[in-house]
Amino acid sequence: MKLPSSSATNLNKENMRHMISMKDFSKSEIDDMFELMDLLKQARKDNAVPQLFKGKSVAMIFEAGSTRTRVSFEAAATILGGHALFLSPRDIHLGGKESVDDTARVLSRMTDIIMARTNTPEIIDALTNMSTVPVINGLDTRFHPTQMLADLFTIREHMPKGKELKDLTLAFMGDATDVCRSLLLTCTKYGMKFKQIGPVKYQMEQEWLDLADDICAETGGSYEITDDIDKVSECDVIYGDSFYWTTQYDEKDERLAAFMPDYVITTELMARAKEGATLLHCLPANDKEEVTREALEGEYSVAFDEAENRLTAQMAILVYFTHKDIVVPTAEVVKQHEDKINKFLKTL
Ligand code: CP
Repeated sequence: MKLPSSSATNLNKENMRHMISMKDFSKSEIDDMFELMDLLKQARKDNAVPQLFKGKSVAMIFEAGSTRTRVSFEAAATILGGHALFLSPRDIHLGGKESVDDTARVLSRMTDIIMARTNTPEIIDALTNMSTVPVINGLDTRFHPTQMLADLFTIREHMPKGKELKDLTLAFMGDATDVCRSLLLTCTKYGMKFKQIGPVKYQMEQEWLDLADDICAETGGSYEITDDIDKVSECDVIYGDSFYWTTQYDEKDERLAAFMPDYVITTELMARAKEGATLLHCLPANDKEEVTREALEGEYSVAFDEAENRLTAQMAILVYFTHKDIVVPTAEVVKQHEDKINKFLKTL
């Protein structure tokens, strides 16, 4: 149904997709995104990235702080010839003077894609319901899908010779965070073995394991949730994340007592992993808590390649979710508009 409107935007986009969780995408679709990342990364190396986001804008709503997600989306938009708008709660009326629904409708009329980081998943869901442009989840308390693209792409780049993703075991050290959940659902989609290694109190909730069960039945992937630190000996990838999020500062002492020292990633722990194992960390890292500086700087650490690949991923996301909407006007149409506008300007 076409809404009555004088809008110049292309509303009611057919087959529009949002990116809320990686579970909503097939392996083949994620493979396409990886291939696009590969191509865009090669183009960036040659400083020759095609202007596939030219004249377009991404609205970036940040309710919570960010270095990588903000800078990577902003840089990606610029590299691709477009523009990014940083919108913090201080800058817009979201949820205060204006409903999330109306915010989504207005942003959809002016920009081409909306990215949101929020501690309130309902905001992501409301944006998704009302937006007529793709909504990208830049991290809520459930999922961190853009991080997943960068993570698996980085693992592929550093794959042991002769291996495929399905041959690998990844251990997530610590709390069942949004990143941990996202890794469970994404790694198993690729037939990988996933382990969460952490204290029982902070292990993955059953609802996420139920989702993973369905994925594993299809892909042959598997998971293990354990507090047994010796299980790192079975792992090709060791993954670190903060032991507490910004909304959990009041639990900090209790959490650190539960996780430290057993679940801290150290050079000694890396030595207990499989030969050639790599260290990933979504960052920001606290090198006095979940990972030591020595481990983060070890030759097995690819955490900063992973951080750079956030930019590779965001370039691919901006293109993947908007490329079908690009209508390249003929030179004739451009000339017609130019002539009409210039004729009018001469009358001023
Ligand atoms: N890993 C990650 O999302 O980093 P930022 O919080 O800096 O965006």
